[in-house]
Amino acid sequence: MTKILHNDRFRLLPNPKPVRPGPYAENGRAEILSLAELDRAREEISSWPGYHRTELRSLDGLAAAAGVRKTLYKDEGPRFGLGSFKALGGAYAVASLLQSAVEAKTGKRPTTAALAAGDLRSVTSAITVTCATDGNHGRSVAWGAKTFGCRCVIYVHATVSQGRRDAIAAYGAEVREVPGNYDEAVRQAAHEAEANGWQVVSDTSYEGYTDIPRYVMQGYGLIMDEVYEQLPAGTLPTHVFVQGGVGGLAAGLCSYLWERFGAASPAYYVAEPEKAQCLLMSAEAGQPTADHGALDTIMAGLACGEVSLLAWSVLDQGADGFFTITDEAAAETMRLLANGEMGDAPVVAGESAVAGLTAFLLASTDTSARALTALNEDSVVLIIGTEGATDPTVYAEIVGRPAESVLPGWASGKLEAVQ
Ligand SMILES: Cc1ncc(COP(=O)(O)O)c(C=O)c1O
Repeated sequence: MTKILHNDRFRLLPNPKPVRPGPYAENGRAEILSLAELDRAREEISSWPGYHRTELRSLDGLAAAAGVRKTLYKDEGPRFGLGSFKALGGAYAVASLLQSAVEAKTGKRPTTAALAAGDLRSVTSAITVTCATDGNHGRSVAWGAKTFGCRCVIYVHATVSQGRRDAIAAYGAEVREVPGNYDEAVRQAAHEAEANGWQVVSDTSYEGYTDIPRYVMQGYGLIMDEVYEQLPAGTLPTHVFVQGGVGGLAAGLCSYLWERFGAASPAYYVAEPEKAQCLLMSAEAGQPTADHGALDTIMAGLACGEVSLLAWSVLDQGADGFFTITDEAAAETMRLLANGEMGDAPVVAGESAVAGLTAFLLASTDTSARALTALNEDSVVLIIGTEGATDPTVYAEIVGRPAESVLPGWASGKLEAVQ
């Protein structure tokens, strides 16, 4: 098949372990993420102001070029006006944590809608939440703190762009810089929380810290639930390609499909930057394994060196395979979408939004990867476009447009918060 991307270096590692060998609930997975807990998350999140299902777009030009029946693109850019899917995770965890705090104090668990209405500020305003972020998760936590009424301190590492810091601060959070990379910021947030009695709302789980990240990942599951409702009744994609940082998003979606559809689940592939490939390395080693490289990828949201332990418990046998892709290929995919090059309507997709799509495009036109992933002209491929132009300056540079044209008001600093 004719290549779609010129930057065609990639790696595909089929999962060396047996894939989805039995029921989802085995091996403690149901205690991590479950459809029952997703029901709770759906009930709360869908009651928040500004909740709408995000659009599921059919990119028919792209599907034709890739030689498949359909390419469906779930566009998470507009989610709660925050620019990415992350609002479903961090903010849901903040809301859940505040619910528990109120319940401990008053004996009654409030709804998150009551928290948002400000009825319980007398309890919640004494609580401080904190986390490390490379942008999107911190924005979600800051938005959650503002929406549900508590204080917020966010840790960023040196290479988090000013645009992303400003967007967090716009929700009233204090932003603090930490030397080193994302994983060091995670450690610093944990340390400060311990010293000050704050609550860590992390999107990654580690030894001894697993409760909150479960809420984060459970909130992400709503994306797949929406997709299922948006598809023609009773149908499923044949393939899912999704990007991974610590693996929380990929695990959240994978668990939904595995528990609900069992052996009929779509083939499931996870894509990472080759400069931050802890998921592929973990699959190759057969256990959680860190990538100690510089992690200096343009895909800021995926620049993670360590997998989330809980996420790995799902992906270990839930994913069919793991891809790595280059920054150059991701940038090319961003331009292809921005310009509607295959005849589809233009899509605004940020750097971390396109890794899954990039892996799919590369696999679809590579004879061996096409065969390994069983892509063919009947395939219906689901892509999760996890962010829009979350930093319009960076986005504009990559797609070759003035930032002002991407988001009017951004470059002149007139925006209070990113919409
Ligand atoms: C836009 C975007 N996509 C994907 C991811 C990956 O999510 P996870 O770290 O849960 O794997 C992130 C993480 O921050 C992100 O910001």
